[in-house]
Amino acid sequence: MINFKTIPSPSYVIDESLLRNNLQLIKQVKEAAGVDILVSFKAFSNWGVFPIFKEYGFGASASSLNEARLAFEELGVKAHTYSPAYEEKTIKDILKYSSHISFNSINQLRKYSKIAGQQGVSIGLRVNPEISNSSHDIYNSCQPGSRFGITADHLSDGLPQGVEGLHFHTLFEADSFALEKVLTAFIKKFGKFLPKLKWVNMGGGHLITRKGYDTDHLVKLLIDFKKKYHVDIILEPGSAFTFQTGYLVSTILDIVENNGIKTAILDVSFTCHMPDCLEMPYKPVILGATDERKGKPTYRMGGISCLAGDYMGNWSFDKKLEPGDKIIFDDMIHYTTVKTTMFNGVNHPSIGIWSGKSGFKLIKEFKYQDYKNRL
Ligand SMILES: Cc1ncc(COP(=O)(O)O)c(C=O)c1O
Repeated sequence: MINFKTIPSPSYVIDESLLRNNLQLIKQVKEAAGVDILVSFKAFSNWGVFPIFKEYGFGASASSLNEARLAFEELGVKAHTYSPAYEEKTIKDILKYSSHISFNSINQLRKYSKIAGQQGVSIGLRVNPEISNSSHDIYNSCQPGSRFGITADHLSDGLPQGVEGLHFHTLFEADSFALEKVLTAFIKKFGKFLPKLKWVNMGGGHLITRKGYDTDHLVKLLIDFKKKYHVDIILEPGSAFTFQTGYLVSTILDIVENNGIKTAILDVSFTCHMPDCLEMPYKPVILGATDERKGKPTYRMGGISCLAGDYMGNWSFDKKLEPGDKIIFDDMIHYTTVKTTMFNGVNHPSIGIWSGKSGFKLIKEFKYQDYKNRL
């Protein structure tokens, strides 16, 4: 158990043993199914802990030149890259750092397939099976009018020459039964192309490490698909790798009251440091707190930025809160540090890792120069 008293505030803290549990489970699925499972950098790309990832032998999925380069330089692998569109000024470098590239449209494929082929990069097309499990529009890449992937009606002339793989990403924090439904739709719409393909990338959204995920069912699904269609299978989850592997440690600076509502003002911010809470939105878990309970001390948590909406509520605690108390947000490692901002010039939480053996190790601290250099 982490000794939070030893952690500087504010900090994101990765718990090494929880991270290793996730990596081990995903590795087991990868080996049992005989598929490739890539770390999607968009969810987590804290290269300071890549030496741990390297022990488990995962590849990487990238969505920009920066991510592809990081995969190459810090994880030692060439990325499987997909972006809604590529730019002429960066395509050469993207290809240099990629083993596979997926195009989002026939236009993009026509524009860049020659150079991709010359650089020996395997070419794929992102398709849109028009089915998603996500009820949140912000995470539904298959909503009508979506800009992601080619729908089947645009492939009536067949698969363009040179395409070796198809890529789809439709799921969000999903189980294997949601994937099964997507596969049924994918096969119905795009199955006729499978005999010509070398690989199928089934995207992310597979929350393999969530308690209760039926990994046996996933493995069976993937093995059956491979046996039937003779293609390599790639999955590229992001969240699953760092799901529930750490915390954002913060401190109460003040407590204010307005119209009977008490707000604990923290040294962190929802908009800057936990943006998904506001974007999705969802209410994060705070260690030692519950949802609002009558009769218990109850508070909103207020961010340190000047955005009026930079707060969430309400949580109840066993005892009254005081300035100086620590507030620890759970599950704050994926889609946090990759998305944070220094809006208002607010201090960025440090990033560190906790291990049972050596305690807290600081990986990165942020200073005035980090704020200044961005602007
Ligand atoms: C193309 C693609 N692949 C993989 C992922 C990773 O998804 P997740 O982190 O939900 O597993 C995303 C997330 O948006 C994505 O857009």
